[in-house]
Amino acid sequence: MSEKGMHEEPLSSASKNGVTETLPMAGRVVLITGATGGIGKATAIGLATTGARVGITGGHPGRAEQAAADIRAASGNPAVDAFAADLTSQAEVRRLASDVLDAYPRLEVLVNNVGGFWAHRHQTADGLEHTFALNPLAPFLLTNLLLDRLKASASARIVNVSSGAQSMGRIDFDDLQGARNYSGQRAYNQSKLATIMFTNELARRLEGTGVTANSLHPGVVRTNFGAEDQARWFAVLSRVILPLLKTPAQGAQTPIYLASSPEVDGVTGRFFANRKPKTANKLADDIEVSARLWRVSDDLVGMHDSRWGAFRHA
Ligand SMILES: NC(=O)c1ccc[n+]([C@@H]2O[C@H](COP(=O)([O-])OP(=O)(O)OC[C@H]3O[C@@H](n4cnc5c(N)ncnc54)[C@H](OP(=O)(O)O)[C@@H]3O)[C@@H](O)[C@H]2O)c1
Repeated sequence: MSEKGMHEEPLSSASKNGVTETLPMAGRVVLITGATGGIGKATAIGLATTGARVGITGGHPGRAEQAAADIRAASGNPAVDAFAADLTSQAEVRRLASDVLDAYPRLEVLVNNVGGFWAHRHQTADGLEHTFALNPLAPFLLTNLLLDRLKASASARIVNVSSGAQSMGRIDFDDLQGARNYSGQRAYNQSKLATIMFTNELARRLEGTGVTANSLHPGVVRTNFGAEDQARWFAVLSRVILPLLKTPAQGAQTPIYLASSPEVDGVTGRFFANRKPKTANKLADDIEVSARLWRVSDDLVGMHDSRWGAFRHA
């Protein structure tokens, strides 16, 4: 966490044609995961520019501090705070949640942006497959840990970054961790479908609380995506289609829209692309499979439904 950032007051107004206007996100606090680069960083710049206090997370303290400094400079808003945690580790997710709860008495927006693609199977410190641990499970745990703060700050929004790859996804409960048979693409597709199922299930559970939950596809964006362990075909294809890819600022348009636009006040449980609702994989509407995935995720993070004991599907 940046000591400097925490003591700075957010930018709350701006002058346009000699008239001072209050910025639309002034007074609101936003946390964005995976915002040291790519879509997350561009989302942070966009939301900081509109006056929010923005907390960003990254896997390494140095990179997170540097990104926070860049975002302050690009937005003109000094209230950008850096948090660092390796989100493949559940202990680190829990520490991050506790740091955020200590730093922010209010939290109006959580953007679960962190995610990635791994061509080969890797195992996390918790013994889980890397893609599943980072893409849907870390946001699942972080959101649950921050939920009481979001509810107390309502109206509040949860924005989960999925992908167009969700349309090819299916949930393989018999081999969720790809232990028997791993393919990077299959693991990614599954993880991004799981992100939407988690979002929709969350939206059902949050009905009437003033907290909304939506998911999105940012478009195909020129970032560091997949660079850590890239499939050969992906490296070749990326080079070929490079000029067609969105810039990170373009990729950030839908997350910024869902985090801040009055047009989506009260809208919940929807999947968006290009700032418009889209039909997702039809499995995402399967309440039974979503509820099962929630229970399995709950067991994997060791929450054992403690916060949701009273919840029953209508
Ligand atoms: N780019 C695309 O075309 C595309 C398309 C559809 C969906 N998406 C989704 O959009 C989201 C953002 O992707 P991007 O393209 O912007 O990716 P990116 O450039 O690779 O950025 C990923 C971010 O996540 C952080 N991160 C990665 N592993 C982490 C870990 N173990 N712990 C903590 N932080 C970690 C990185 O921080 P550090 O490196 O500093 O740790 C970085 O800030 C992802 O969910 C991705 O699946 C991207």
